[in-house]
Amino acid sequence: MAKPHRITPDLLRSRYWFDNPEHPGTTALCIERYLNYGLTLEELTSGKPIIGISQSGSDLTPCNRHHIELVKRVKDGVRAAGGVPFEFPMHPIHENVRRPTAALDRNLAYLGLVEVLHGYPLDGVVLTTGCDKTTPAALMAAATVNIPAIVLSGGPMLNGWRGAERVGSGTIIWELRKRLAAGDIDYAEFLSRASDSAPSIGHCNTMGTASTMNAMAEVLGMSLPGSAVIPAPYKERAMVAFDTGTRVVEMVWEDLRPLDVLTREAFENAVVTCSGLGGSSNAPVHINAIARHAGVELTNDDWQRLGYEVPLLANVMPAGAYLCEEFYRAGGVPAVLHELLQAGKLHGDVLTVNGQTLAANLEGQETRDAEVIRRYANPLVAYAGFLNLKGNLFDSALMKTSVISPDFRARFLSDPDDPDAFEGKVAVFDGSEDYHARIDDPQLGIDERTILVMRGAGPVGHPGGAEVVNMQPPAALLQRGIESLPCLGDGRQSGTSGSPSILNAAPEAATGGGLALLEDGDRLRVDLQRGEVRLLVDDVELAERRQRLEDRGGYIYPDHQTPWQEIQRSMVEPLDRGMTLEPATKYRDVARRHPPR
Ligand code: FES
Ligand code: MG
Repeated sequence: MAKPHRITPDLLRSRYWFDNPEHPGTTALCIERYLNYGLTLEELTSGKPIIGISQSGSDLTPCNRHHIELVKRVKDGVRAAGGVPFEFPMHPIHENVRRPTAALDRNLAYLGLVEVLHGYPLDGVVLTTGCDKTTPAALMAAATVNIPAIVLSGGPMLNGWRGAERVGSGTIIWELRKRLAAGDIDYAEFLSRASDSAPSIGHCNTMGTASTMNAMAEVLGMSLPGSAVIPAPYKERAMVAFDTGTRVVEMVWEDLRPLDVLTREAFENAVVTCSGLGGSSNAPVHINAIARHAGVELTNDDWQRLGYEVPLLANVMPAGAYLCEEFYRAGGVPAVLHELLQAGKLHGDVLTVNGQTLAANLEGQETRDAEVIRRYANPLVAYAGFLNLKGNLFDSALMKTSVISPDFRARFLSDPDDPDAFEGKVAVFDGSEDYHARIDDPQLGIDERTILVMRGAGPVGHPGGAEVVNMQPPAALLQRGIESLPCLGDGRQSGTSGSPSILNAAPEAATGGGLALLEDGDRLRVDLQRGEVRLLVDDVELAERRQRLEDRGGYIYPDHQTPWQEIQRSMVEPLDRGMTLEPATKYRDVARRHPPR
């Protein structure tokens, strides 16, 4: 861990704008308009750090909306430490509502944030986060611009309850949809039960993508220790908002920047901890993206190598039984990290935003409830990470084997001679509309051994990549008690879903990936031991299919709806490379490399 030096006020970036006698005209123009709402000349010119606060909350983004209140405490902290806070809006990203998908906004918010952090008089920034993609967008921008930056999560909602039963956000929707399709409940009850899962301000209270990515920000060292999972309404959430504000001012003086923290070792810690948390299947996409922007080459092979064998310690839905309130009380992210560090699984000497090493932050942070945060020797599940599957259809696809249910295992993985492999015929869907239109069609002949395939759902086929790979079986099978079929696809799936899908297949059908060659009734062999998925069709037939596909002009996908969809599709990288914008990944440390002019 290298401790950064301290800087003097004359080296503050904001001086170019606010105290620059060589360019008096420019300086005057920059200053005069900031006085028009009551800031004083003294505040702008006396060498106080100017701290941006990236506001991710709005009426459009309910998961982050309480940041509107919370940043008041951030500003108090900034001022108490001698800084001047400047709040500004981040492009809204709301997971459940944004169409065609919130993932389309991750890169757009990233670009917007890069321009603001680079182009305005900011010496440091507090990045408010919450809903799924707000966190990776913020961290990607922090890595690119590399001014002192600290993440403040808004925190999860309180537990949802139905009577004495915990109701987890997102996770309950997957369950209720099956019950609605099977005719157990009606639409009114479906809505009433779904809203049980959202009892307060905050983001999803399960270990979905939001809680995972905010935990990842803490694990990477980019937010204050212990801050990620404080429930949104708790007083501790406002307290840590204050501390975050004071700390970022110190970080400016210490010249402690994101690229000092976002090292290869920090990303390896994130991969390992994601397994311990039972984190979202979206985490590899976002973590690989943040890593690319930080100049660290992280691949899905790294996820398997470092993460697959790590046990599940956090007993939180969807993989476990509890929600984020219990998780916080049991010690939260530090308690999981503590177990993993003790087990020798982490790099303890990495630097974090509080200026201490990870290991120093974790002293005395043992689990306070070994039922909710398990001891490493007594985990919930032994191998909680992702397998990185390959084969003749794609180069990379992820599968979380820890969520395979006993029922699923009995139906698919029961051959005593070959317990880790199964074969099945496929039913192929081109996007979610096709799936919804045809899943109940008896002509497809879907039975309890069918593999459901979703294609056209990657970042190009469905701009941003659709969260649609976890498909439920046809109603006829649900009514017979068949709750899940194996799913495979080039899209993503919700982090709140516990389905044992093979997802994020790359390259995707829309860019020439092998899923485009599949036909209904083809047989696939999935071999988890060998890490392989093979289409059981000979090479000659496959080559003929490829030729026919090319003759048709490639895989057909829906038109662009907006300018940004077209722009993103023209330059987006596959899911295994983080779904980043290819031209953007070469920009790094831009605040220092390209000072204002
Ligand atoms: Fe926003 Fe889950 S929908 S956090
Ligand atoms: Mg999601």
